[in-house]
Amino acid sequence: MSNAEQIEYWNGDAGKRWAQEDATMARLLEPVCEALLSHAAVEGSQRAMDIGCGGGSQSLMLARKLGPDATVLGVDISQPMLQVAQDKVADAGNVAQLSFLQADAASHEFTPASFDLLFSRFGVMFFDDPVSAFRNLRAALRSDGKLAFSCWQAASDNEWTRVPLQAALQHVPMPEMPDPHAPGPFAFADAERVRAILDDSGFGNIAIEPFTYHMRFGNGSTLGQTVRELAMIGPVSRLLTGQEPATMEKVFASMEEVMEPYYRDGALLMPGAIWFVTAEAGA
Ligand SMILES: C[S@@+](CC[C@H](N)C(=O)[O-])C[C@H]1O[C@@H](n2cnc3c(N)ncnc32)[C@H](O)[C@@H]1O
Repeated sequence: MSNAEQIEYWNGDAGKRWAQEDATMARLLEPVCEALLSHAAVEGSQRAMDIGCGGGSQSLMLARKLGPDATVLGVDISQPMLQVAQDKVADAGNVAQLSFLQADAASHEFTPASFDLLFSRFGVMFFDDPVSAFRNLRAALRSDGKLAFSCWQAASDNEWTRVPLQAALQHVPMPEMPDPHAPGPFAFADAERVRAILDDSGFGNIAIEPFTYHMRFGNGSTLGQTVRELAMIGPVSRLLTGQEPATMEKVFASMEEVMEPYYRDGALLMPGAIWFVTAEAGA
């Protein structure tokens, strides 16, 4: 239950690639954070944790939303992502209440009952043992505190993953199907499983609401450029690892063909299916 694989992944080549793509991800996912912040009514929280904060763009948004009297701690296992977060905060200036910690949120010994908000944008689906991780996080929450996070619905319900994957699979072999509950971006696709995990971890008043959002890939770029960008950050990137350049070009060509209907005004607009999960610390 050490999260060793994820620690290696987020600190290795993949973590470095994510860090390089941070500006794209920040732009792409900003509206999700905005919507989650208002959905969860976070105002009034004084001491928040941003779990799996990555490059910190949503930590900054959270800190700004809570105002100068509140503090926000971004926690992440990834050194490359935290470096991006630190640089971003230094550039933003005057957000003294925001700090970062390199730690495994599943097992780090936080001061008990020291937070009144546990927040995360897509940072909680990577625990080997989610119940033990959420128990640990709940212990850090005050009894009147709350939890709010976003996670992905199934890959098959997310057009931005399903459509490019189908195109890529015309040219590269289908990888072995991983355990759908294994740590990864779609591990929390099953809302009833998420509810059970939080229930078993002691949380109460659990609510899981769908949120659909048109992901906007590209910013004035051609269809070809945008497809290549998406292939590098989306699930197709795993399929392309180690492939010959000629195969990759075939994948890009097929992606262009099927994604053309989503391309408008220099960007691809593709629906994303997300869960917004909220809960209270409970008794
Ligand atoms: C998909 S990224 C999301 C990053 C950021 N929240 C965002 O929305 O841009 C997932 C993040 O969770 C972090 N993470 C994974 N397992 C973790 C753990 N056990 N403790 C803390 N962070 C973890 C990863 O290092 C990565 O930065």
